[in-house]
Amino acid sequence: MLRVGMLTSGGDCQALNAAMRGVAKGLSSNVEDLEIYGFLDGYKGLIYGNYRLLTSSDFSGILTKGGTILGSSRQPFKLMRTPDANGLDKVEAMKQNYYKLNLDCIVILGGNGTQKTANLLREEGLNVIHLPKTIDNDIFGTDVTFGFQSAINIATDAIDCIHTTAASHNRVFIVEVMGHKVGWLTLYAGLAGGADIILLPEIPYDIKKVVSAIENRTKAGKGFTILAVAEGAISKEDAKLSKKEYKKKMEKSPYPSVSYEIAQKIGEKLGSEVRVTVPGHTQRGGSPTPYDRVLCTRLGAEGAKAILEKDFGHMIAMVNNEVRRVPLENVAGKLKTVDPNAQIVKEAKLTGISFGD
Ligand code: F6P
Repeated sequence: MLRVGMLTSGGDCQALNAAMRGVAKGLSSNVEDLEIYGFLDGYKGLIYGNYRLLTSSDFSGILTKGGTILGSSRQPFKLMRTPDANGLDKVEAMKQNYYKLNLDCIVILGGNGTQKTANLLREEGLNVIHLPKTIDNDIFGTDVTFGFQSAINIATDAIDCIHTTAASHNRVFIVEVMGHKVGWLTLYAGLAGGADIILLPEIPYDIKKVVSAIENRTKAGKGFTILAVAEGAISKEDAKLSKKEYKKKMEKSPYPSVSYEIAQKIGEKLGSEVRVTVPGHTQRGGSPTPYDRVLCTRLGAEGAKAILEKDFGHMIAMVNNEVRRVPLENVAGKLKTVDPNAQIVKEAKLTGISFGD
């Protein structure tokens, strides 16, 4: 008998179900005596023992289905060692539930924070396999995460739609793309959507440079400008602040997000109105793109293979177009950010895109 647990943790994305299906099919096609337990709402389910036995019908028809059949929640890694309101030791509770079900392994799907907790559970002696999920594409050790390509499609669609109305009205538009810490999604959607200015957390901007990029377009006879701005875009002055100081500043900010502050500043300097569009959580919704469905099927199948081979403690990653097992201890806690000197950034600049730096 093989007993496997599964959970999805952190912000959801389009391809979680596709990835779980990949693992389940990879296991059920090769093992007769199999039980898969789904923990509900992320680590919460593992902590409080909320789970259900999943059958093959649970994994049918979910390749194209967004969200997660198990539900998800955010359980910050930094609080994992802090007892809950009733004094419960969360790590101990997770271990007990794992042992109570006599699991051979637990498959954990999630982003950076989720991965850190997965690694903690590995250190505590549990058999863990991690599948890298996030629309942010910021997991170190894998070229791509699932959800990223699907989110690019949605953010690009948003920019495409804004393009036509911006052109009709000769306006400056900001499309705010998800990503507080990293700008992968903004960079790719910005390029795919033909944004004129792209502002990323990794490349602090100078508002004067942003404004002059718009003015240059006007001089060249272009009536409109599209900015793709990451949620975590930051000015050069703000980038000099300590994390604590910046957090304080943002708490006091009268703007709902950085894009509105940038819009206000551009508007003041140009004497014209700037519109902001925030596609927000639509970027995590809907069905996965074919790319993500294929990626998840491949990662899921390799996850199943690792379980069958009893080779635990890995993230199943895509490295140079090959699916690989990457030891969690080598990657947990590291963030994959956009290198301001990366080829893709240089190429974007070569085509006239301004990063405001
Ligand atoms: O980590 C994925 C992500 O969608 C980020 O891009 C975004 O900044 C954040 O989650 C939003 O979090 P929440 O769903 O908790 O508002």
